[in-house]
Amino acid sequence: MLKLTVVGGGSTYTPELVDGFARLRDVLPLEELVLVDPAADRLELVGGLARRIFRRQGHPGRITWTADLDAGVDGADAVLLQLRVGGQAARNQDETWPLECGCVGQETTGAGGLAKALRTVPVVLDIAERVRRRNPGAWIVDFTNPVGIVTRALLTAGHRAVGLCNVAIGFQRKFARLLGVPPEEVSLEHVGLNHLTWERAVHVGGRDVLPGLLAGHGDAIAADLRMPRELLDRLGVVPSYYLRYFYQHDAVVRELGGKPSRAAEVAEMERRLLDLYADPALDEKPELLGKRGGAFYSEAAVALTSSLLRDTGDVQVVNTFNNGTLPFLPDDAVIEVPASVDAQGAHPLPVRQLEPLYAGLIANVTAYEHLALEAALEGGRDRAFRALLAHPLIGQAEYADRLTDSLLAHNREHLAWA
Ligand code: G6P
Ligand code: MN
Repeated sequence: MLKLTVVGGGSTYTPELVDGFARLRDVLPLEELVLVDPAADRLELVGGLARRIFRRQGHPGRITWTADLDAGVDGADAVLLQLRVGGQAARNQDETWPLECGCVGQETTGAGGLAKALRTVPVVLDIAERVRRRNPGAWIVDFTNPVGIVTRALLTAGHRAVGLCNVAIGFQRKFARLLGVPPEEVSLEHVGLNHLTWERAVHVGGRDVLPGLLAGHGDAIAADLRMPRELLDRLGVVPSYYLRYFYQHDAVVRELGGKPSRAAEVAEMERRLLDLYADPALDEKPELLGKRGGAFYSEAAVALTSSLLRDTGDVQVVNTFNNGTLPFLPDDAVIEVPASVDAQGAHPLPVRQLEPLYAGLIANVTAYEHLALEAALEGGRDRAFRALLAHPLIGQAEYADRLTDSLLAHNREHLAWA
């Protein structure tokens, strides 16, 4: 029986996670789930609903909550990180000020992503240190964005950590539905960095069905990604929707400039969700939660945590050290690929040689992530500037300078060095 702690447990996403723990209790038999969050009011609402979800589904596990991190992680076998430094308000800024320079405003991509990394890395490292002090054997599963940079920070500091995102499991489920087969039968040749990935092949029963999938369902897949069908056909692979920010950068900037930010939308949804959670009659995750980006996040989390704690050695798409998997990247780059996962951690499977079209962008963004982590760890305007100069969506000194100024101006309260 297992104890799991969720840091950022007051998030409106938590019922998604709890619903997964309840449904998949044979895969991961939790004895205790602890929600840790500094926001006491949210914890009450979210924790109350979490208990009702467990009760409705007949889950015998105990759910508790606390604002005290050290107490909350004590004795945990695994700690899930899903916190957001500065909340949706900080995200709203990340999505807004880069647009003034004609650059994409996004929570993980471009200058907004750098701001998030700078705010987040020191907080996550402090939490991980406290987990390790109490609990040296515990696994850290990181969903906290930007997952690539945060995971790199954790692994470089020697923590037992794996980074997780729901993009791959989302494709697996989507393709399974289109093909009319159970999701377990679909395995993806997924490669890249977190939020910079491509599906190069889709295996069902030992065969690559991607060409047929694109031929038969290309319109549906393209519509979902909001990319032109023709682009998918020309590439012959399926990029994640984050590649829109690269392949259609200027069009996205125009589109974003004319509407409220995603953070503003999400903040409104969160208000409505918290109202729903306050209803003592509600004992399942509400439909509205499905409008967030985190679909299947609980399935992915349950599968990964189970593999780590039960030493299964099965294959999951995760974020971990490259260690030679992509030979053109340093060993300590963090990549997102299928890996076998056991009690020793994640071990990437070999990857077929990558075409320059993908390898080039991956290498470029890896260099940015390296510099972003340096800036997050050591601080300093010049380090932030270098990271932005290295980013393929920025690159020009004048823009990098202006974006650095905006980043600092909007994040002083979160950055000890700014
Ligand atoms: C996907 C991404 C996550 C991201 C989320 C945003 O799930 O993989 O990393 O945080 O979308 O969703 P939201 O509803 O907050 O816009
Ligand atoms: Mn993600």
